[in-house]
Amino acid sequence: LVSEKKLFKGLIFKTNLHSFFKKKICYFVEYNFSMNKEISSGTYSVLFKQKGFDYLSNHLNNINYSKIFVHVDNNTKKNCLDLFLNKINLEKYELIESKDGEENKNIYSCLKLWEIISDKNGDRNSLIINLGGGVVSDMGGFIASTYKRGINYINIPTTLLSMVDASIGGKTGIDFGILKNQIGTFYDPQMVIIEPDFLKTLQKEQISSGYAEILKHSLIYDLKTFNLLIKNGKTTHDINTIYDSVCTKNSIVLIDKKEKKERKSLNYGHTLGHAIESYFLNTEKKLLHGEAIAIGIVLASFISNKLFDFSFDYVISIKKHIDLIYSKIEINESEIESIIGLLIHDKKNSHGKINFVLLEDIAKPIYDVQVKTNLIKESFKYYLS
Ligand code: GLY
Repeated sequence: LVSEKKLFKGLIFKTNLHSFFKKKICYFVEYNFSMNKEISSGTYSVLFKQKGFDYLSNHLNNINYSKIFVHVDNNTKKNCLDLFLNKINLEKYELIESKDGEENKNIYSCLKLWEIISDKNGDRNSLIINLGGGVVSDMGGFIASTYKRGINYINIPTTLLSMVDASIGGKTGIDFGILKNQIGTFYDPQMVIIEPDFLKTLQKEQISSGYAEILKHSLIYDLKTFNLLIKNGKTTHDINTIYDSVCTKNSIVLIDKKEKKERKSLNYGHTLGHAIESYFLNTEKKLLHGEAIAIGIVLASFISNKLFDFSFDYVISIKKHIDLIYSKIEINESEIESIIGLLIHDKKNSHGKINFVLLEDIAKPIYDVQVKTNLIKESFKYYLS
């Protein structure tokens, strides 16, 4: 172990997040949530509840778009569209629909969407409003960033995962074969509106899936929230927690939008988590994104203890917490071998190396760490114990 640590000297990168904490540009909520709070992300704002819809109305009046496209999937058309239209008086719009599910986040779906927008005479002064989860906002943002070299778009996330993660930070994109988010752009929306009423349309599993990103944000940035989440022992996702989680992501994106350095810390639990998600995709053990990330978080926490003395008490409480919220997934030895084989496809690999984000402590992430296969296998044994 000692020699492994020495091996990493000079290779690891600690983040500057700590110095950034001191100049935080958002306000952590202590008591009751105020609907007037918005989070500024440089070129756009994240707004909450009715204030967001009022802001959107003003925006539409001011810009006078030639055409407004509301982008839904089959689920959000059924469950969220009426709720959205009740919150804003949208006189004229065109509905564009894509199929739900990660398997449809591809160039073929984009072709259909571009075709409809073009047939309906979308021009440079058109707007796309993405009403949905991460697939709708990633793909809708990508469509917007490329159509006529870029038109405006707005994200109205309807899943917890999208509220705290996918809709924030200006990443747009689609999958390329089995490779997730391989084709995409950095392209900011005009605004993001978070309306927790949409969460009432979700199944319990989708809430747990989004919660994994809330837990991840607390681990890499926010000890106070981490302690609160562990103490609560459930999928805490009240508006204050959502607000704090968005603040965390936004703060990190603001210092490193293009993921050259600090933004990499948002991939905590994702190196192995993505590989687990991809491996089980076409099996009867298919996992939601956050369910796979939750396993990845346990694995990364165990490895963090071995390589950076991340407190084992924390590792134990993280595992207990995740075991409480998510069903245990049995993973046999040959599956572990295959998952490790899949790591090579992870988008965060560079120069053929598999890079992990690990923790030295809560809120002290370290990125670009290479981990030996034996230790990865050991971490799976710990998860399964
Ligand atoms: N979901 C990680 C990021 O936006 O960078």
